[in-house]
Amino acid sequence: MSINILSIESSCDDTSAAVFIDGILKSNFIAGQSVHEQYGGVVPELASRAHQQNIVPVIDTALKKAGIIPTQVSAIAFTRGPGLLGSLLVGTSFAKGFAIAQNIPLIEVNHLQGHVLSSFIRESKEQIVPKFPFLSMTVSGGHTQIVIVKDYFDMEIIGSAIDDAAGEAFDKCAKVMGLGYPGGPIIDKLAHQGNPEAFILPKPKIQGLNFSFSGLKTAFLYLLRDNLKINADFIEENKANLAASLQKTIIDILVGKLRRAVRETGIKEISIGGGVSANSGLRESLQAVALKEKWNLFLPKMTYTTDNAAMIGIVGYFKFLNNDFSSLDILPSARLKF
Ligand code: KG4
Ligand code: ZN
Repeated sequence: MSINILSIESSCDDTSAAVFIDGILKSNFIAGQSVHEQYGGVVPELASRAHQQNIVPVIDTALKKAGIIPTQVSAIAFTRGPGLLGSLLVGTSFAKGFAIAQNIPLIEVNHLQGHVLSSFIRESKEQIVPKFPFLSMTVSGGHTQIVIVKDYFDMEIIGSAIDDAAGEAFDKCAKVMGLGYPGGPIIDKLAHQGNPEAFILPKPKIQGLNFSFSGLKTAFLYLLRDNLKINADFIEENKANLAASLQKTIIDILVGKLRRAVRETGIKEISIGGGVSANSGLRESLQAVALKEKWNLFLPKMTYTTDNAAMIGIVGYFKFLNNDFSSLDILPSARLKF
């Protein structure tokens, strides 16, 4: 009999469900929430309500696309945290109800472990995955960290953000430029037409492998403020150059720390994950460095960079193999530790 894992991700503003059959991804369906666009950021209460509306059709679609019915599911995995409590509650409650109804095991998954193990999402048996130990850099809207992955569930954080995350830097700078939300993809697109050397922005001098992006955000804000005093159309006239310069600075910081991590650990097996790993400039720079320094680089497919249930399902599958199940009284946790 095959192992059929159904998984749910509902930590922020995407409702997603996926199905794995014997560790191979069969479906991954994501419903985004456009309701937040007009507010320039995710409104937690609106996110929970949208999850409630989306969850049943999203699960239904994922099962149908995978060609299985609820009674064929072996276990259900869900994101326990970190994330928005109301949003997590919707996924957790659904997972519990489904586990009770089908009398199958429930598996809690840490969202960050999902990003770290996203390079293990395989659509076919032939797909190559990282070998242990490898270095994983997660760059998302809420987290920036470098982890040594010694085994599926043996990970050590060697660097993390001391203030804003990389995605937050993209989003907040885009917001002050009057661009939409989320800002990362908009900056990415604009940056293609701009000169990355047009504006020189500061890079933080943080010891070791930790990251800081709040100084860059403030410097960017001051750059706009000072220039707007002289020219009210400054942003409009320099949009692409601003985006390209900001993106280049963020990439330099990320790639710089990753190179340092490789030097310090001697590990050249590298994977990245999280929403910011969708950034085309970051992907190109990493590919160039990998070629030059002989890294074995794993870049996730675009769909598996931002939040998705496939990354939750793959962790769920490995936990299933370890008989690592959760009790039915488990609660979601907004600040779940890594
Ligand atoms: O992993 P994710 O979907 O959610 C969190 O767990 O936070 O990441 C969302 C973040 C947002 O900050 C978004 O602006 C950023 O990923 N992002 C990007 C790109 N696509 C998404 N940042 C830069 N370039 C992109 N192409
Ligand atoms: Zn995420």
